[in-house]
Order: sequence, then C-alpha cells, then structure tokens
Amino acid sequence: MKSFGDVTILIFGGAGFIGSNFIRKVIFLSPNTKVVCVDVLTYAGNKENLEGLPKERFIFVKGDIADRAHMQKLFKKYSPAYVINFAAESHVDRSIHGGVEAFIRTNVLGVTVLLEVLRHTPSIKKFVQVSTDEVYGSLHLASKKKFTEQSPLAPNSPYAASKTSSDLIARAYHMTYGLPIVITRCSNNYGPYQYPEKLIPYSIIRLMEGKPIAIYGDGRYVRDWIHVEDHCTALILALLRGVPGEIYNIGAGEEVDNLTLAERMLRFFKKSKSEIVFVKDRPGHDRRYAIDSSKIQKELGWRPKHTFHSSFEPTIAWYVQNAAWVRRSLARAGTANIHI
Ligand SMILES: NC(=O)c1ccc[n+]([C@@H]2O[C@H](COP(=O)([O-])OP(=O)(O)OC[C@H]3O[C@@H](n4cnc5c(N)ncnc54)[C@H](O)[C@@H]3O)[C@@H](O)[C@H]2O)c1
Repeated sequence: MKSFGDVTILIFGGAGFIGSNFIRKVIFLSPNTKVVCVDVLTYAGNKENLEGLPKERFIFVKGDIADRAHMQKLFKKYSPAYVINFAAESHVDRSIHGGVEAFIRTNVLGVTVLLEVLRHTPSIKKFVQVSTDEVYGSLHLASKKKFTEQSPLAPNSPYAASKTSSDLIARAYHMTYGLPIVITRCSNNYGPYQYPEKLIPYSIIRLMEGKPIAIYGDGRYVRDWIHVEDHCTALILALLRGVPGEIYNIGAGEEVDNLTLAERMLRFFKKSKSEIVFVKDRPGHDRRYAIDSSKIQKELGWRPKHTFHSSFEPTIAWYVQNAAWVRRSLARAGTANIHI
C-alpha cells in the first residue's frame, strides 16, 4: 500500500477504538508522515490506547471538534494534507437512554465545525468522514438484500440519525464548496481496544467476571462483522485514492447473529448456553445489517484480510490478556459507565 509521504494527517477521535488502531497502522505504514491526533477524551477516549508511538512523528492534542476557535487554530498550525474524522458519540444505547444532546453536539455540530474550518484550509487533499451502515436502517432477516451506496437513508436510532445528518452535511459541503470529501460507511467492527460497553468486549468481561451474557430480545440480530484492521486499511485507501464526493461502503460480508456470537464466546470460556440471559429488547432494534462492499473492492482495490472464523477467538484472547486495560478503562470512565 502507498504511504502518505512527507505530509501531516490530522485525525479526530483517534483515542477511541477504531481511531487508535488506525493511527498505529498509519505510523507503521507511512514512515515520513506526521500524525496529529485531536481528541476530547470522553469516557470512550483513552490516551493509553496511543502509548509507545514515536514522539517525533506523533502529537496528541486534547480538543473538542465543536470548539471552532480551537479547530481553526489547529488547522492553521498543522496545515494538514489529509484529515479523517472518527470523533463521535458512538453507542446506540446511550443515544436511547442517556440523552441525545451529546450526539447532536459532536456528531452533527462538531462535524459541521470541522467542515467549516476545512473551507479555509488550502493544504487539504482529502477529508474522510467515517460513517456507519446504520444510516441505512434495517434489513429483513429472511432477505438476501445488502446495503449499497444507493440504498435509501433510513436511520432508526438517535445515534444513526445523528450520523446520517453529518453524512448529509459533508455531502453538501462537497457539492456547495467543492471540498475533497469522501464518506465511508462501515459495518460493525471487532478487535482490540474497543471500549467495554459494546457487545463483544462487554460480554467477554462479564464472562471473565463469572456473570452471564445479556442478549437483547431473541438474539436473532444479524451484524456484518469486520475486523478493525480491515476497516483501517479501507480508510487509508479512501484517503489516498477515494474520489471526492463519493461514498464507499465497507464490510467483510460476515453476517453473524448475536446468539451465535454469544455461543462462540461461551465455547472459548468452556461455559454452557445456560450462561446466556435474554433481556428486554432495545427499542427500535435493527434486525439485520449487511453491506455490499463491491464498489470499494472494484474501485479502490480493497480486500478484507481477516475472516471472522480465524480472528474472533484471537480478539477474545486479547481482552483476556489485557484485563488490566479493561479495568482501567472502566475505572477512568467512572460514573459515565452505562450497561443496559
Ligand atoms: N465501532 C464500530 O463498529 C463502528 C462501525 C462503523 C462506523 N463507526 C464510526 O467510527 C467512528 C469511531 O468509532 P469508535 O467505535 O472508534 O468510537 P469510540 O467511541 O471508541 O471513539 C470515539 C472517539 O471520539 C472522541 N470524541 C467524542 N466526542 C468528541 C469531540 N466532541 N471532540 C473530539 N473527540 C471526541 C472520544 O473521546 C473517542 O476517543 C465513529 O464515528 C463511529 O460512528 C464505528
């Protein structure tokens, strides 16, 4: 894969799950590139995820993407060639039960602030807005359909609605001001450094603590799982080769339902199915996501390297081996933790 060369990449939300995996990959693949990570460090952001990176090529700045004056200063100071935005409130359950304002503030207002500042950044070659398949809503369990880039936008949760809004604003900034903006929409990620409130790490932690796995409804909720490293490779290609104004779906085509996932975790821990408890369903719960990623495969030459079959158990093992990281992440977030 081509490297970025002797330029600066500004990365927003890089202390979270996907952002921190992305930064490590860029630092490794692109030896002449300077990486500036800007993150406000919410409960989900963790500087520890970025430890050990070379000081001469990696800078961390604490900052809020909704703070326009600060963002203006940073864009001016670093004159980035590439910008990628991971910063978001990202947990669907929080958007339902924990108040939607933070989602609107970061996912809608914050993205708008970045786009406004981008208008006055002549050094910019590409801006990637990292989005989600949840903007397309839900597919029927029995159907064989997949989301394409032309699928109608039909978000069902407040989180998905906030991400859809930023996609539309980003598109409008491309159409109106000609900014070199690319939008990517990825399916559910798994891998190391995910804050332990999301299904996979949360369930692993519960099993490690001798508690049962909590599964929503009947558990027949299908997600199209992708390893975070494959997502990051696709994002690098979107930055380097993505065509401004285009949307690229990213998914590995690995549909697995929550019950099957839970049973695999139980097998790893040598526990029985009686360790699953079914809890009251999430309101508006999307039944199935499935991504058609043929466009990014054909046009940008991306291919996923991981299979769920070979990479799921190593992911479980990572959380077991990094139990101290999990404990520290939860302790740092303190009362912000929400487990439903
Ligand atoms: N996790 C997935 O499966 C998945 C799938 C598709 C798309 N996405 C998208 O990818 C992006 C990253 O997801 P993630 O799972 O790494 O999320 P995450 O919650 O782990 O990380 C989000 C990061 O953004 C930071 N942040 C939040 N508000 C901010 C603000 N106002 N200013 C600066 N930083 C702020 C947080 O501190 C955190 O470090 C999100 O935009 C999400 O919508 C995630």
